[in-house]
Amino acid sequence: MRTTRLFAAALALSLALAACAPREPAPVPRPDLLPQGTALELVVATDLHFLDPAIVREGDAFTAAYAYGDGKQINYISQLVDVFVAEMLERRPAAVLLTGDLTLNGERMSHLELARRLAALPQAGIPALVIPGNHDILNAFASGYNRDKMYDVRSVDPEEFAEIYADLGYGQAASRDTASLSYTWPLSDDLWLILLDTNLYERDGSRSIPQNAGALPKETLAWLEGQLAEAESQGAEVITATHHNLLNHSSRLREGYTLDNADEMLAVLEKHGVRVNLSGHVHIQDIAGEKLGGREFYDIATSSYAVYTNQYGVLEYQPGAELRYHAQEADVEGWARRAGVQDPDLLAFEDYSYRFFYDISKERSYVSLVMAQLNKDADLELMSQTMAILNPAYFSGCAGQLREEVRQSDHYAMWRKHSGFAPIGYINSMLEERELDPRQITIPLTD
Ligand SMILES: [Fe+2]
Repeated sequence: MRTTRLFAAALALSLALAACAPREPAPVPRPDLLPQGTALELVVATDLHFLDPAIVREGDAFTAAYAYGDGKQINYISQLVDVFVAEMLERRPAAVLLTGDLTLNGERMSHLELARRLAALPQAGIPALVIPGNHDILNAFASGYNRDKMYDVRSVDPEEFAEIYADLGYGQAASRDTASLSYTWPLSDDLWLILLDTNLYERDGSRSIPQNAGALPKETLAWLEGQLAEAESQGAEVITATHHNLLNHSSRLREGYTLDNADEMLAVLEKHGVRVNLSGHVHIQDIAGEKLGGREFYDIATSSYAVYTNQYGVLEYQPGAELRYHAQEADVEGWARRAGVQDPDLLAFEDYSYRFFYDISKERSYVSLVMAQLNKDADLELMSQTMAILNPAYFSGCAGQLREEVRQSDHYAMWRKHSGFAPIGYINSMLEERELDPRQITIPLTD
């Protein structure tokens, strides 16, 4: 009797110890391929520039990081990511793609926390697939904020990146390139996704200032060609995704934005009939097209989710029929109301986000005009209005709607008067006619 009781106690103890022993959570399995002919929806978001709130203690240092930056709403990026995850759980697309610049400056803590929040998607059966951007790996700027000071924090190397995002693409990829963090994700019998790492981080493991430019290594191009041939042999169409752009999205933002060896990659895509690439990096919303092998090829650049109008791209894929894309603004106000949030900025976020980008654009323009030392008759206040009005519209893909109004305005007339001195080139590039609607397109898949 006593022996039995001792045995039972020992068994209970061993079970308790086993329950407490640290173990790796089971990886989320890759969903089965959807059958041929399945219409499906994809979502693409880019340049989230998430910053883990745990490494931010508000103060002058953090205020300077967002209030004098390039319009990234990093003071609300934590809530914006929660909104995005909630909208994806509601929308339930067949896959969510995040095309790089996941973090502000490659902070390890930001990667870990973002991966933790995004894990809700694969756990709900929605594949969420990430690739790095030029800010995400071995970034020398990785910092935390402590009141009036910034401090150095750890970044990640490529191996850590793939480990952190094991449930977000890397653990279940059908094929991984050995020369980069590129991988293939077959989604259905009709459609495969190939996500490509185009970034030029140091391969020796040392941290460096992020390089703006990108290129695909020769080995990765060869791997891509093999993957495209494989997809072709299975009768599947391919959509590729990159952080850098494959076509130019403006007459100004080319070098450092469009892939250095875009021609080489385009030649490979042409050979295998790829029609669409999804990109980010440039932070503006734009769609560019070019004839490739007798068919139109499109590079769809979705604007930075961190910047007004805080949007992502939705793709509706009808196999053998068409692919439709549109930019979709996140409903931050609705999320804030439902969550019972009291913050008035979140409850009227579109207005707040517009005003934020308007003010930053105006301030930056004013400062650059002061530096340009224009003639005394130049009204700098008036001139900075052009940038304040145009920048938010340009980034969200709506500059066309303001083009004539701006061209007729007294503030733009002042720019023209001082065009010999002032940096009018960027303003004129925002006013350029675009061949395609930057926010939506329908691509026939019938030829
Ligand atoms: Fe970015």
